Amino acid sequence: MPSRDPWLLTPGPLTTSATVKAAMLHDWGSRDRAFIAINRHMRQRLVELAGGAGRYVCVPLQGSGTFAVEAMLGCFVAPKGRLLILVNGAYGKRMARICDYYRRDYKVLEWAEDRPVDPAAVAKALAEDPAIGHVAVVHCETTSGILNPLAEIAAVVAKAGRRLLVDAMSAFGAIAVDAREIAFDALAASSNKCLEGVPGLGFVICREEALGATKGHSPSLSLDLFDQWQAMEKTGQWRFTPPIHCIVAFDQALKEHEAEGGIAGRGRRYRENCRILVEGMRRLGFETLLPDRLQAPIIVTFHMPADPKFAFETFYDGLSERGFVIYPGKLTVADSFRIGCIGRLGAAEMQAALAAVEAVMGEMGVASGSPRKRAAGA
Ligand SMILES: Cc1ncc(COP(=O)(O)O)c(C=O)c1O
Repeated sequence: MPSRDPWLLTPGPLTTSATVKAAMLHDWGSRDRAFIAINRHMRQRLVELAGGAGRYVCVPLQGSGTFAVEAMLGCFVAPKGRLLILVNGAYGKRMARICDYYRRDYKVLEWAEDRPVDPAAVAKALAEDPAIGHVAVVHCETTSGILNPLAEIAAVVAKAGRRLLVDAMSAFGAIAVDAREIAFDALAASSNKCLEGVPGLGFVICREEALGATKGHSPSLSLDLFDQWQAMEKTGQWRFTPPIHCIVAFDQALKEHEAEGGIAGRGRRYRENCRILVEGMRRLGFETLLPDRLQAPIIVTFHMPADPKFAFETFYDGLSERGFVIYPGKLTVADSFRIGCIGRLGAAEMQAALAAVEAVMGEMGVASGSPRKRAAGA
């Protein structure tokens, strides 16, 4: 067992820097002037990262990413509105579940988990159904790791005169979404993914004019973005107890993100992590679910090896004992597992993870990670 914390090769919560963790070793009053300034800076920086300065505002919320997605749907889709949800994985399906709870009218357009959303099909669905006012899409569907073509989807939604809502949870901070080029009314993300903070904070980056029109829409008090925004603008404070330690750690994480070169720098490190991982796993015989052109540098899905000696539990435990935490699969289309490339990890950690994979395979007596059954006598 290594003497360090485990390295989290997962889609988050993920490995954070020592300095991000250390930022939490203080107590702050929620009405403290310094804490209020941190909140202001955090909100401004998140808007800047989305290219939204001047037209967008950031509304943070207590809770995990799902809270932010739920708040976004509950506020932006009016009680009598109709939403088109583009689904190619579990997080798209979750948006439909939220609409069921909130009794919002919606239609689902669905693709298999290994297929990207098709903008032409979105254009057709919008042309056929004039009652649809908003479209919701997941940028990187973490279920498989697929990157949806956000710019193309945004273009067809804008052309049809509808509004776009984005779940950018697992990509924001590493894959650019610039509001000056991609038209969206709201984008939800959280502290504990590519921005490398600790869990506990979600946020929605909202086009200010569109947010201003959501008064009275939310079926939830604690998730009412309009109310939260108004209170923050007036007092600089949170309506209800803020996740203070998480926020100060996030402020530190945002400084480290900027020091790394912002979205470009963070994206570069993750792409390199992903390349090392995929090449190394392929050398060991593993196959990725997705072709490289559809793969986001966030989390990679691998097919389960065909060798009967391969048992996922043993594989998982063997890696865990060596200090690497991976993730089970979440697919319905194939038996699989996932390895993440995000968090405070770089080339050396990815190489070490590959060495651990090889060692555990050796222990299990698995010669290849190939998902293909070997021909008899081969
Ligand atoms: C794309 C996407 N949306 C939503 C969520 C939900 O976030 P949380 O688990 O923080 O509620 C996740 C979590 O991994 C995600 O990847």
